[in-house]
Amino acid sequence: MTEPIVEIKNIHKSFGPLEVLKGVDFTVNKGEVVCLIGRSGSGKSTLLRCINLLEKPDSGVINVFGQDILHTRNVNAYRAQVGMCFQQFNLFNNMNVLENCVKPQLKVLHISKNEATEKALKFLDKVGMKKFAGADVRTLSGGQKQRVAIARALCMSPKLMLFDEPTSALDPEMVGEVLSVMKELANEGLTMIIVTHEMNFARDVSDRIVFMDQGKIEEQGSPDQLFNTPKSERTRSFLNASIANAR
Ligand SMILES: Nc1ncnc2c1ncn2[C@@H]1O[C@H](COP(=O)(O)OP(=O)(O)OP(=O)(O)O)[C@@H](O)[C@H]1O
Ligand SMILES: [Mg+2]
Repeated sequence: MTEPIVEIKNIHKSFGPLEVLKGVDFTVNKGEVVCLIGRSGSGKSTLLRCINLLEKPDSGVINVFGQDILHTRNVNAYRAQVGMCFQQFNLFNNMNVLENCVKPQLKVLHISKNEATEKALKFLDKVGMKKFAGADVRTLSGGQKQRVAIARALCMSPKLMLFDEPTSALDPEMVGEVLSVMKELANEGLTMIIVTHEMNFARDVSDRIVFMDQGKIEEQGSPDQLFNTPKSERTRSFLNASIANAR
């Protein structure tokens, strides 16, 4: 049975005179992997940031886990259930790899240090970074940092993971190691929303691809449907340009 995790109804968001989200309806079901694609400035990051309340829409409704998050009293308790990975990793440079994964758990989950450490090592192992547990994060490559950031997010046992272009700050040879970790999470049934320019990855892992254009969802569908038989001319021209760039 489909169980909606995220239900967005008619959200609008402006920054001053610039209307960035112009009435977006968007649903994600449990276990679904949805990729958000679209041109720069189309509102992808803003939509994602609304889902974990880094931005607040001017109007509309967002229900996540069946809860009206725009009127929730406990934003921190809500955010603890939503993992987020950004382009720029956002690790704490003054802590080593293990501490980066342990400290947020102690702060938010109120579990013992032993339990937090055990969990951190489990997820660092999962992303292939256990052997770097004692390393200073400044000494890591971009791909390694992003894998630590993913492990850190997983330590919080998120019910939903949001990724905003997690590979676009990486050197090309490091993109694959991060995408393969994400692919594994997708295969395990974690509900994920991923903003990406990696069209092959989107095609490969998504249950659904959502094409955003000028603050609206222009078209959405299965990867096959969107890539092979796009309904809209705007979708077609965006995909053709993206595929040409990737060659
Ligand atoms: N905090 C902000 N203040 C003012 N303008 C903003 C803010 N955040 C985003 N914008 C503007 O809103 C528009 C949409 O931005 P958004 O980051 O959502 O686009 P995007 O689709 O993620 O683009 P990209 O692919 O470049 O990341 C852009 O014109 C951007 O400059
Ligand atoms: Mg963006």
